[in-house]
Amino acid sequence: MKFTVAIDGPAAAGKGTISRAVAGRFGFAHLDTGLLYRAVGMKGGDPVLAARGLTAADLAREDLRSLEAGQAASKVAVLPDVRAALVAFQRAFARRDGGAVLDGRDIGTVICPEAEVKLFVTASAEIRARRRWLELEGEAFEDVLAQVRERDDRDMNRADAPMRAAEDAVVLDTSEMSVEAAIAQALALVAAKLG
Ligand code: CDP
Repeated sequence: MKFTVAIDGPAAAGKGTISRAVAGRFGFAHLDTGLLYRAVGMKGGDPVLAARGLTAADLAREDLRSLEAGQAASKVAVLPDVRAALVAFQRAFARRDGGAVLDGRDIGTVICPEAEVKLFVTASAEIRARRRWLELEGEAFEDVLAQVRERDDRDMNRADAPMRAAEDAVVLDTSEMSVEAAIAQALALVAAKLG
């Protein structure tokens, strides 16, 4: 069975938590596509070569969740050749047998426009920055907020695969919603589609 759940949205909106819950409930595989860009950004050297030669070890680095890695990711993510190098892997993952959940910025628009369920998860920049600040240790809130805004801006305004909700995506604003409520909505959407 091929069944793809595309979960897009800006930094720290809750995509990861929702994706893991959906994947766990329905037994789907999960790919956090942001990790691919974070690994390319942190590898150093020519980012296009890094994207073409990405290894399991690159994806296992312990510093990929840092603020620095997020910034580096959004800088290499504007490069069309970097994005192109990562497309085939993501498409194959999306259409693997048994169902898949992918979270990122362009899953419902570019990687898998045929996804059976598309969600665009968002929240205000202040609320997203607060969530990310609580996850990270030793960072100043103002720095986290500034970086979230900078990344949002870069991700929305790049020419190639800018972050936006697909026309047929369900938009979930989690600013005033508990994690449990957001997960419940996502699970209900998938369950309804699976019939
Ligand atoms: O976890 P968080 O939402 O902060 O970020 P992420 O999903 O790990 O993505 C890091 C950066 O990678 C984003 O700011 C984007 O610039 C880029 N990215 C992308 O361009 N396309 C994707 N499908 C996923 C991430």
